[in-house]
Amino acid sequence: MTQKKVLANKTSVAKKGEKKPAVKNVAPKKASSKTVEEKLLLQSLRGMRDILPEDQPYWERVRRVLTHSSQEYGFQRIDTPLVEFANLFTRLIGTETDIVEKEMYSFVTRGGDKVALRPEFTAGIARAYIEHGMGILPKPVKLFSVGPVYRYDRPQEGRYREFWQGNFELYGENDPILDAQTIQLAYRVVQQLGLKNIEFQVNSIGVPESRREYSKALVRYLEAQKSKLCQNCRERLVSNPMRILDCKEDKCIQLTAQAPQSLDYLDVESRDHFKRLLEYLDELELPYTINTRLVRGLDYYTKTVFEIWSGDKDGKKYSLGGGGRYDRLIKMMGGEETPAIGFALGLDRIVLEMKRTQVKPYQEPRARVFLAQLGEMAKKKSLRLFSELEKNSILIAESFGRGSLKSQMRVANRLGAEVTIIIGQKEALDDTAIVKDMVSGTQETVTHERLVDAVKKILKTNQELKIKEVNIPRPVEEFEKE
Ligand code: HAM
Repeated sequence: MTQKKVLANKTSVAKKGEKKPAVKNVAPKKASSKTVEEKLLLQSLRGMRDILPEDQPYWERVRRVLTHSSQEYGFQRIDTPLVEFANLFTRLIGTETDIVEKEMYSFVTRGGDKVALRPEFTAGIARAYIEHGMGILPKPVKLFSVGPVYRYDRPQEGRYREFWQGNFELYGENDPILDAQTIQLAYRVVQQLGLKNIEFQVNSIGVPESRREYSKALVRYLEAQKSKLCQNCRERLVSNPMRILDCKEDKCIQLTAQAPQSLDYLDVESRDHFKRLLEYLDELELPYTINTRLVRGLDYYTKTVFEIWSGDKDGKKYSLGGGGRYDRLIKMMGGEETPAIGFALGLDRIVLEMKRTQVKPYQEPRARVFLAQLGEMAKKKSLRLFSELEKNSILIAESFGRGSLKSQMRVANRLGAEVTIIIGQKEALDDTAIVKDMVSGTQETVTHERLVDAVKKILKTNQELKIKEVNIPRPVEEFEKE
C-alpha cells in the first residue's frame, strides 16, 4: 500500500510588484515579505501513479514483447513529443468527441502557444509523417511507439489520467489484407503476453459520405424516443449521434438495440472492403465477432474499426486496445492522399489482465556469483574485481556493506549463488582469490588473471549438468515463445 504523508513546507510567496487578490469582508493582512506555510502533498496526482519496482517485471515483459513483435512485423520505432499544438488534437480527433471536449490537458505556454499533452499517439505521428516527408519512403511505412498519454477522465480501476499505450501505425496501403495483418499483429502481441480468452470485435463505419446517410437514419429512429435517452445522449443526438451507440447507460443500450446498423448503409467500396477483411480473418482463424455498435470515440476513422476485449465471463471486461483505418486523415492535414491503419494497446490494462490471469512476469537474469571480502584491503580490491567480472559479462551479487564473512556467506546462500569468490587479508596481499564451487563444495585459490576463467568454468559445468537446486534463470526467449 502506498503510504501517503502530508508534510508542511515553507514556501516564499512574496513577490515584488505582485497584485494581491481582492478579499471581500476580510480585513487585509499586513503586507509581509515573510514566508507562509504551504502544504506539500506527498502523493501523485489523481489518476496518475508510480509504477514501482515490484511491478516492473510485468512492464518489462510487455515492453519486450512489444519491441519483439514490432520488429517481427517490420515496424520502426518513432518517438514524438508529449506536448503538441492543441489544435492538432482538436481537429484530428474531433471537437465533438469526449477526448477533446472533456479530457484534454490543455494550457497556454509562457510564449503564448496553445498546447496540450497528447491524449493519444495517432495525431502526433501523422504530424511527424508529413513534417518529415515520409510520404516519399517505400510503402507501407510502419511506425511503432510506446509511452504515456493523458486524458482527464474519471479515474477508477483500469482507467487513469496518465496511462501507457503501445501504438502501431501503418501508412500507404488500402488493401484489406493489411487490416487483417494489423489485427493479426494485435493478436500476436496479446498471445505472446500469455493472455487468454481475448475477444476481437470488428465493424465497418464506412466513409463520411455513407456515414452521413447512416447518421440521418439513426437520428430519425432515436428522435421519436428521445425522452428515453440519457441527458448526454440527448445532446449527442445533435452533436454526434453515432456516439449514442457507445453509451454505457442501460436505457440507451436497450433503446439502440433495434436501431439501424452502419453495415446496412455502407457504400459499395466499404462493403467490399469489409467482406474481404472478414474472409482474411476467417482464413487466419482469428477469434472475432462483428459488433455493429462499435463506432470508436475518435472522428478520424473510415471503414474498418476494431477493439480487443478481455474475455472475463463473470468479472469486469476491459477494452485492452482499439484501432482502425483512417484513409482520409493525412490528406485532410495537407499531406498526399495516404490510406492508413493503426491501433493502440492500453498497457496499464494489459498489466492488470496479466496479473488477474496470473501470467508470469519477466524474470531478471539472476547473479550466479557472489563476491565476499574480509578486511579493509580486501574491500578495496573487491571493488576493482567486481567491475572486472562485470566487464566479462558475469553478473555479481555482493554485500560490501557487511564485514563478517559468516553474514556474507549467509547472503550468498540465500541468493542461491553457484560460485562464491572470497578475498581475505592474505588473498588481498597476494593478488589472489578463493573460488568456491557452492554446488560441489570444492574450492581453489587462483590469481586475479585466472579468476574470470575459473568462474566461467564452474558456471559452464553447472549449466551442462542442468543444476536443479540453484534455479538457473530462464532466458527471455522462453517467455516470448509462449
Ligand atoms: P483508444 O481506443 O482511445 O484508441 O485507446 C486505446 C486503448 O487505450 C484502449 O483500448 C484502452 O485499453 C486504453 N485506454 C484508453 N483510455 C484509458 C484510460 N483512461 N486508462 C487506461 N487505459 C486507457 C486510440 O487511442 C487510438 N489512437 C488508437 C489508434 C491508433 N487508432 C489508429 N491508430
